[in-house]
Amino acid sequence: MASFKSLLVLLSGAAVVLGQHVGRGCGTTITEEELAAAEAHFATHRKEALMAKAAPITVHWNIIYRDTTVNDGYIPESSIEAQMQVLNDDFAGSGISFTLGDVQRIQNAEWFRFLGPYDTVEMENEMKRLYRKGDASTLNVYTVGFEAGRARGLLGYATFPVNYALNATDDGVVMRHNSVPGGQPPDPTTLGAP
Ligand SMILES: *[C@@H]1O[C@H](CO)[C@@H](O)[C@H](O)[C@H]1NC(C)=O
Repeated sequence: MASFKSLLVLLSGAAVVLGQHVGRGCGTTITEEELAAAEAHFATHRKEALMAKAAPITVHWNIIYRDTTVNDGYIPESSIEAQMQVLNDDFAGSGISFTLGDVQRIQNAEWFRFLGPYDTVEMENEMKRLYRKGDASTLNVYTVGFEAGRARGLLGYATFPVNYALNATDDGVVMRHNSVPGGQPPDPTTLGAP
């Protein structure tokens, strides 16, 4: 899944705007100033990150669903585990590893359909305020449907590490529910990795 692949980018702090296609791809955007700040942050923390081999990053999953079917966002445990495997495989040899944390399942049809990076800030704020767990060493993943408006069809978007100091609650990755391995309806463009 593209936004998971971009985790290396995110966790290493390297600022890259991933390909943005019409209604597809990555919804993360960054200004020149933010890019410079992210690069500086990366330069400062690169060494620490490389030395932090021992500590796996705990990944908390916040599954937003409309109904208890896979098509409606109720991702099965097997897909979550498969996604964690893909993530660890992709990062093998980097010194970065991930471990599954809590899986929270949250029924909210409105968030599932509408929530995205563009014009649903209040929804996103509420979701993160209520459900984000952990600290700077924790990764929070939120899965939604990206079904409506400008966010329709997005794969995902994320904050940058440099943003954590500005707003810890906002920190995390929001991604499309069916981009995980075994996701339904099937998405041929994503199998847990691009
Ligand atoms: C920080 O982010 C949270 C979650 O997105 C939001 O509720 C809050 O309003 C933000 N705080 C500031 C100061 O922007």
